[in-house]
Amino acid sequence: MSGREWAVERQEGVEIWTIDGEARRNALSRAMIRGLLENLARVRDDRAVRCVVLTGKGDKAFCAGADLKERAGMSADEVHHFHRSLRDAFRGIESAPQAFLAAMNGAALGGGLELALACDLRVVVDGAEMGLPEVGLGIIPGGGGTVRLPRAIGVARAKDLILTGRRVGAAEALAMGLVSRVAPSGTLRDVALELAGLVARNAPVSIRQAKRAIDGGLHLDLDAALAHENAMYQDCLTTKDRVEALRAFAEKRMPVFTGE
Ligand code: COA
Repeated sequence: MSGREWAVERQEGVEIWTIDGEARRNALSRAMIRGLLENLARVRDDRAVRCVVLTGKGDKAFCAGADLKERAGMSADEVHHFHRSLRDAFRGIESAPQAFLAAMNGAALGGGLELALACDLRVVVDGAEMGLPEVGLGIIPGGGGTVRLPRAIGVARAKDLILTGRRVGAAEALAMGLVSRVAPSGTLRDVALELAGLVARNAPVSIRQAKRAIDGGLHLDLDAALAHENAMYQDCLTTKDRVEALRAFAEKRMPVFTGE
């Protein structure tokens, strides 16, 4: 199984999508974005996939942002089209029913960090650097970085990173809340798969609804956010998986969820 420029593996309920472009430090080309959109369309209705781990090949970079070599040969229209596809792909990750986990195996810069920011969970290997260096390149983060970074770590810290363009290491990223776990060198895959496995054993509809409740409620006022949570909760009540969970509890066994 593979989309363009992505290696795809499946381990039980978890898919691992690896950006396959080590020579250019997994920088995002047009073909990679097409492949990402294809993979997203493929898993959208696949109930067997409960969690997707995004990672990059090699140990140098998770993703070095947009492919600047390809960019150099692109017309203004092509850049515009690329950018729209990139934004659609990142939004597709957020609106997917599965949980997405960015396993940052090396540097995550520019669009590479923005890709990770579109994911629900972020884990980084010790020694990797992360940053949004765009202001040093005469642009601003335009793949959602100015929107998602402050939502993830707060306005003051986001401005500290975006206005300086500086890179942070794993320890600072953890302290800032940019990542939730740091994996010692050589353990990233195990750490990421363990976390993905903990997500994947839960009811798929619950994962989808919890993701929607959190993302959709974040910037509503308190009453509206609680009403939104309640709407997301109500949708779980009619599922077979909820009945299965109650039955499994009574029978003292693990529930078997189907996503229905
Ligand atoms: N687009 C295209 N090619 C890229 C790239 C990008 N975004 N980032 C790196 N590469 C290429 C380099 O040009 C180099 O190619 P070459 O072997 O033909 O010279 C190759 O990848 C290796 O890069 P190098 O810098 O030697 O690797 P490294 O392991 O020492 O460092 C990074 C890796 C990611 C830290 C470093 O490449 C980097 O800082 N890249 C720029 C990232 C960036 O600013 N992105 C934001 C864009 S808005």
